[in-house]
Formats: sequence, structure tokens, C-alpha cells
Amino acid sequence: MKVAVLGYGVVGVGVYEMLGRAEGLEQGPVLVRPGKADAPFKVTSIEEIVSDPTVGAVAEVMGGVEPAFTYAAAALQAGKHFVTSNKALVAARGIELKALAEEHGAAFLFSAACGGGVPFLHNLSLARESDRIRSLGGILNGTTNYMLDAMQRLDMDYAQALADAQRLGYAEADPTADVSGLDALRKIMLACAVAYDRLPTEGLLNEGIENMTAADAAHMKSRGYTCRLLARGGLNGDGSVYAFVEPVLFREGVPECSVLENYNMAKYEGACSGSIVLMGQGAGRWPTASAVLRDLNSVLLGHRAMLRPACCRVAADNGALEQLYYVRLPARFAERFAAESAEPDGDTVRLVTKPLSPAAMHELAGEIRAQGGELFFAAIGG
Ligand SMILES: NC(=O)c1ccc[n+]([C@@H]2O[C@H](COP(=O)([O-])OP(=O)(O)OC[C@H]3O[C@@H](n4cnc5c(N)ncnc54)[C@H](OP(=O)(O)O)[C@@H]3O)[C@@H](O)[C@H]2O)c1
Repeated sequence: MKVAVLGYGVVGVGVYEMLGRAEGLEQGPVLVRPGKADAPFKVTSIEEIVSDPTVGAVAEVMGGVEPAFTYAAAALQAGKHFVTSNKALVAARGIELKALAEEHGAAFLFSAACGGGVPFLHNLSLARESDRIRSLGGILNGTTNYMLDAMQRLDMDYAQALADAQRLGYAEADPTADVSGLDALRKIMLACAVAYDRLPTEGLLNEGIENMTAADAAHMKSRGYTCRLLARGGLNGDGSVYAFVEPVLFREGVPECSVLENYNMAKYEGACSGSIVLMGQGAGRWPTASAVLRDLNSVLLGHRAMLRPACCRVAADNGALEQLYYVRLPARFAERFAAESAEPDGDTVRLVTKPLSPAAMHELAGEIRAQGGELFFAAIGG
């Protein structure tokens, strides 16, 4: 099967090179921007790709929602299989792409969009066929994991940890989507869509790590906690879906604490299989390109869809689950929480709340910030 590649950046170069040595797959044209076609295999118009009858599949590794959606739709309408590493595209327009793929008998797979080289969505899409997935998620953003690890294990402050992540190529020049939790949120949206046939697009919550200070890191460490940014999804008792991202504190000894540097750890809990944990490189040229190739090989084996026909957009319900939270905030706002314990430190207080839903915690944090209160919070996990 000849594969056209859209985008020739970090992942695109890797995909093109791996296609050159893959069995059953063949290098096709590569779409680049006008003025950048400096080799015969590079083209600058999507029409050249969709009208080429020898191209069997299109791998999109450009990023962004547009023109990626328009190009994907054109490829699927021309009956070409479509695989992508682009989580922003699938989170925004995955339902439309699924319908187009069904209509035109083409494949639509996107395992590289969540977890990079970690075969999370690939495994989930197989597991949900024979098991009920109770919950899913994990450490799905390597940049923030690198920063949290550097702040706690190497005692760096936030600015140093971010600069280090950028120097090593883990963080983008604009790291907002990583540090705000948005990148991890998009990934958990995709995982819920694969496991539950529902893509949560409203009621989502994401708290990142931007509000964590070196003093927070040192305090949590002194209490025996390791902080990780966790993306979580699952089913509430009434069958609705929850999906949120927030920092979580773990006691030494649980698997999350051993996820160091820019590694990812994806997890799901099957009613029959129990807890399944996958760990590895969540980003980078070769891990991500290997996931794109895995999808293309799945197409050769006859796999056509990660999203089933019934998959639709829903609102998440993050109000059912309850957990304890660690909160650092100005002492004048402390009374807004029912607390199990509180540790005053000058004008600041560090408290542990009574059980609270993510919806209630994130809403309270928003209210306090709107009134000028600087605050950091993390759920207390295992
Ligand atoms: N890098 C990773 O480790 C990783 C991991 C998992 C998933 N992903 C996802 O994979 C996708 C690509 O990531 P990347 O890191 O490879 O990005 P990248 O290095 O910025 O590469 C994207 C390439 O696509 C090109 N491009 C963008 N829009 C285009 C257009 N309209 N026409 C032609 N070419 C266009 C860019 O060209 P210009 O440079 O000229 O703009 C660039 O060469 C993203 O969706 C990302 O979220 C990346």
C-alpha cells in the first residue's frame, strides 16, 4: 500500500523514513508548504495526492485542525485510508471523520495521537471489544512529567524546569497546551471515545501545573508525596462519562512515582482483565512514527476503525466521583473549604479537604482565583 504523508516535520520525516523499510508499505508523495518542495517526492497540493490512484492511504502529521480536517475529508472521500497523530484534529472533528470513513469504506485510525509510542488506544480499541473498561488514563504528557520530576527530584524551580524541558526539545516554544493540561485533556477525550463510544466535549476540567511553586514541590516531598499530572476518564455509576486532568499526589511505592523524566504511563481497568499498565516514550520522532506505522500495518490487517459507528459527542459529568484534595492558598480563603487538616504558614495555609468532586474543586479554585487568590491544588491519590 502506497502511503502519502501530510507534513514533513519531526514526525513526518520519521514516518517517511520508516515507510522506506516497511514490508507491505511504500513511500508515496509528501505534502509540504508551497516553496518547500526541494525534492521530487515532495508535492505542494493535496489534489495531487487525493487524485493519485496509486495512493492507498494518507498519514497526516501536520498538526492543527485546519487545513488538516479539509485534507482528511478529501482523502476519505477519495476512498483512501486515513491515519493521524493529530489529537487536536480528532478531538475537534473525529466524529465527522469517523462518519466519512464509514461512508467511503476507508479506515480511520489515530493511535499515535495519544501516548506517542505507547500503544494505549490500539490496545483499548481491542480490549473494549471483549471487556468492560471501568476507568482509564494516566500520565499522558511527557513535558509536564519531565518538569514535575525535575522540580521534585532535582529541586529545580518552575522556570528552570521549563527551560530545561525546552532545551531538551520536550516542550514547545509555546508550552501552554502542555502546562495547562489541555494536551492531556485532548488525549483523555480520545481514549473515552475509543472505550465508551462517547467523545466528551463539554463539562471537561483541566488543571495544569502552572500554579505549582518550588515551595509546593518541597512541601509535598517533605510529606512523602510525589506529584504527577494525571488524565482520568471513566464511567460513573449512572453510565455517564467523567473526564478531567489535574495534579495528583502519590505515596512512594505506587507505579506512578517511578515514571521519571518525559516518560508516559497509560492505564486502564477492565472489569475482567483488571489493571493494565503501559509505559514508554510518549513523544519524539521515532516513537510517534512507530505508532503511525502500527496503524498503517493494522489497516493492512483489515482494521478499519477505532471509533465505532455509535460514537457521539457528550457532556462529561465530573460531579459524581469524590476525593480528598491538597490545597495551598491565601489564609483568608481557607474557610471556603471543609478541611480534614490545615497547616498555617504566615499568610498562606496548606490544607487537606474533606471529600470533594473534581467539579466542585475546580469551580471553587476558579472562584478564588477570580477574587485574586493564588492557589495550587492536587488530588490525593494512591
Ligand atoms: N512531536 C511529537 O513527539 C509528537 C508526538 C505525538 C503526536 N504528535 C502530533 O503530530 C503532529 C505533528 O507534530 P510534529 O512534532 O511533527 O510537528 P512539526 O515538527 O511542527 O511538523 C509539522 C510539519 O507539518 C508542516 N505543515 C503544517 N501545516 C502544513 C500545511 N498546511 N501544508 C503543508 N505542510 C504543513 C509544517 O511545516 P512548517 O514548518 O512550514 O509549518 C511542519 O513541517 C501534531 O499533530 C502533533 O500534536 C507529535
